[in-house]
Amino acid sequence: MSIGIFYGSTNGNTAEAASMIQKQLGADSYDVGKLKSGAELAQYDLLIFGTSTWYDGELQDDWESFTVHLSKADLSGKKVALFGMGDQEGYGSDYVSAMRVLYDKAIEQGACVIGAWDNEGYSFDHSASIVDGKFVGLALDEDNQSELTAGRIDAWCKQIEAEMKACA
Ligand SMILES: Cc1cc2nc3c(=O)[nH]c(=O)nc-3n(C[C@H](O)[C@H](O)[C@H](O)COP(=O)(O)O)c2cc1C
Repeated sequence: MSIGIFYGSTNGNTAEAASMIQKQLGADSYDVGKLKSGAELAQYDLLIFGTSTWYDGELQDDWESFTVHLSKADLSGKKVALFGMGDQEGYGSDYVSAMRVLYDKAIEQGACVIGAWDNEGYSFDHSASIVDGKFVGLALDEDNQSELTAGRIDAWCKQIEAEMKACA
């Protein structure tokens, strides 16, 4: 199964998480801010989308531009997994909410989303990325819980490997 990570990162936190996921899963990785089109999306069975959240729940800037390409991509038959970077203390009313934008888009384009993540161990008021009581993907917080990032990524990557066979 081929895996492509697509991430957008303003200050490098999401990029660093993408690099850790890349090493663990043996995936290719792309900064969406450097892509000219969405052609790369077609190459992979599993697409992993990573974004930080900005300005009260919005997508990271490079993702804002890249969604034009995502909206044209046929993701039917593909799996998508999501990870989000945010700040649950500073922006607890919209913690990692940008993941939800990519979740809705992935489903709209025909993908099957895997990798939902328990919200235990976090403290926030609201997140648009909670669906059926879980985050739609891995939630990370380098501002307040950086010591948990490596362990969360390790556990989530193992979960993704186990869930690969889902949505057959
Ligand atoms: C102006 C500003 C707005 C932010 N808005 C949110 C937000 O709405 N929700 C959230 O969870 N984090 C928010 N954050 C926190 C960032 O997502 C967080 O610092 C993240 O680690 C940045 O990752 P990056 O370096 O990959 O872009 C905001 C940060 C700043 C400076």
